[in-house]
Amino acid sequence: MAKPIIFSGIQPSGRLMLGNYLGALKNWVNLQKDYDCLYCLVDLHAITLPQDPKELRERSYEGLAVYLAAGIDPAKNILFLQSHAPQHAELGWMLTCHTYMGELSRMTQYKDKSAKQKNIGVGLFTYPSLMAADILLYQTNLVPVGQDQKQHLELARDLAQRMNNLYGPLFKVPEVYIPPVGAKIMSLQAPTAKMSKSDPDPNATVFLSDGDKEIEKKLKRAVTDSGSEIVFAPDDEEKAGVTNLISIQAAITGRKPDEIVASYAGKQYGHLKVDTAEIVVQCIKPVREKYQALLDDKGELDRILARGAEAARERAETTLAKVKDALGFVARH
Ligand code: TYM
Repeated sequence: MAKPIIFSGIQPSGRLMLGNYLGALKNWVNLQKDYDCLYCLVDLHAITLPQDPKELRERSYEGLAVYLAAGIDPAKNILFLQSHAPQHAELGWMLTCHTYMGELSRMTQYKDKSAKQKNIGVGLFTYPSLMAADILLYQTNLVPVGQDQKQHLELARDLAQRMNNLYGPLFKVPEVYIPPVGAKIMSLQAPTAKMSKSDPDPNATVFLSDGDKEIEKKLKRAVTDSGSEIVFAPDDEEKAGVTNLISIQAAITGRKPDEIVASYAGKQYGHLKVDTAEIVVQCIKPVREKYQALLDDKGELDRILARGAEAARERAETTLAKVKDALGFVARH
């Protein structure tokens, strides 16, 4: 029997960081055994905010090298760049025409990101329709993402249902997979905001390219609170910093947050920070070391991308042809 299909992606808009790893990549690696997976680097999404072209190209290769270094097998999964499969942009347009202004206006990520821009590109607003196209093109069953993508996934599901109701069965309605821990890793400097690739404060984010000393330094400087109680309290803003460190440990080690908290009875924040640093160092080190070696062989990365693009395009074309026909476009003879 055919395995169920997974699609997920990361924007090559910055260096990949601990939140991307724990919220997404680490789970992708585990899921690849039981699913037919397409893992994309969504470069068309990256240009919804200004990008330096040279950096975008470099970050795209880096992203692929991180996917491989994390343990995603290019022989068993489809790894590709979104811009290599033009069907994404095409279906994206068709879905944009079926998305309501109100739906996009409600997107919290749009509100957050547009608030930081002087001139807001229209693509930033219509981004969730393109994301829906990414997913729906492949008849995806499951989309493993961090918590911040949940609202976008709901739109993808609504659009699938809307299109199916209007034009007949075109798309599978995808399910979202959000990991029980690690789905929302917070900034080390402002722990009520999520950790982000593009945070201007370099101490707020642990990048997968950071060296051991750098990771230790960032975790030792992590903001906690003026108290001394080590607890796991996701709903208490006061304890956001401490809760984040416990979450990071839980997501990496697989231990339960309560169990981790219990192991700190009578200990101080300093202990928690030192231990978390050690756990993060051990988690990132093998990925970083492999990734650096992979990045030196761009020829091999290009070959993987070429194979991925070919496989992705073939599948995407099957869905796109059905959609064009259903919408009433004349077939090219
Ligand atoms: P992006 O590039 O912002 O993030 C990639 C993945 O990392 C997760 N993530 C986090 N998880 C935990 N804690 C954090 N602080 C954190 N920050 C990011 C994200 O939830 C995501 O899973 N719109 C998407 C990319 C995308 C996509 C798709 C994803 C485009 N098309 C289709 C799935 C399916 C994005 O901007 O992710």
